[in-house]
Amino acid sequence: MSTNSKVSAGKQTNRITVTDIAARKGGEPVACLTAYTAPMAKILDPHVDLLLMGDSLGMALYGMSSTLGVTLDMVIAHGAAVVRGSERACVIVDMPFATYQESPAQAYRNCARVVAETGCAGIKLEGGEEMAETVRFLVARGIPVQGHVGLMPQSFNTAGGYRVQGKNQLEAAKIKFDAAAISEAGAFSIVIEGTIENVAAEITKNISAVTIGIGASPTCDGQVLVTEDVIGLFTEFTPKFVKKYADVGEAIGEAAAEYAKDVKSRAFPGPEHCYVKK
Ligand code: KIV
Repeated sequence: MSTNSKVSAGKQTNRITVTDIAARKGGEPVACLTAYTAPMAKILDPHVDLLLMGDSLGMALYGMSSTLGVTLDMVIAHGAAVVRGSERACVIVDMPFATYQESPAQAYRNCARVVAETGCAGIKLEGGEEMAETVRFLVARGIPVQGHVGLMPQSFNTAGGYRVQGKNQLEAAKIKFDAAAISEAGAFSIVIEGTIENVAAEITKNISAVTIGIGASPTCDGQVLVTEDVIGLFTEFTPKFVKKYADVGEAIGEAAAEYAKDVKSRAFPGPEHCYVKK
């Protein structure tokens, strides 16, 4: 991976760029995790190529029941925090529901705000062929786009819920068509979510955009997971495609219980935590 110094907005940076990510097609898999805050971005930054400030923050951080309530102001505040907390990874910010679907002009207005106000490298948006014109419009005007096909959480109302995609021929053909349309429109990368393995494999083989899978098999050019799932901090439900690498939620619970016990027994604060006049 090239992390040569580059001039970004007039300042030297060693960040991985979207061009670096695009160059990984068929090469070393791209490691991507979500981050919503500066401290989490700082911890993840040395280890991943791409940090996604996903609209999953609605559920994972704000306790919402879907991503639909996430606003432009929320992704701008959290996107800027992730950029401030990181120095190496390429940062992509998710566009919230209803901020880009209306027209290319609406999309440009809101995506440009996100890029300008967060300092992120590009944006992600959900949708297939129906969004191709918008992707082309944004890329031609300097906004790198990561697409998102297959299971699209912002469309769960019309899709009949959160269902694995590509199970029948019609669905498989539609996802392949959608991914090809977004790639041809200029997306540097496409997230494929909750999709049958051979469909993701065929897409990855046939399009030029770097595919990032989430529940879409190791055939993709890279993988993404929601960090809170990976570290055991989001426990409402765990999709089949998640691998849990730590149980931070349990560690936090144990620390809180110890703290409360110490406060109640007056074991905390101890003399070492007190200010005394010498
Ligand atoms: O919002 C999000 O975090 C995402 C990833 C899970 C791909 O879209």
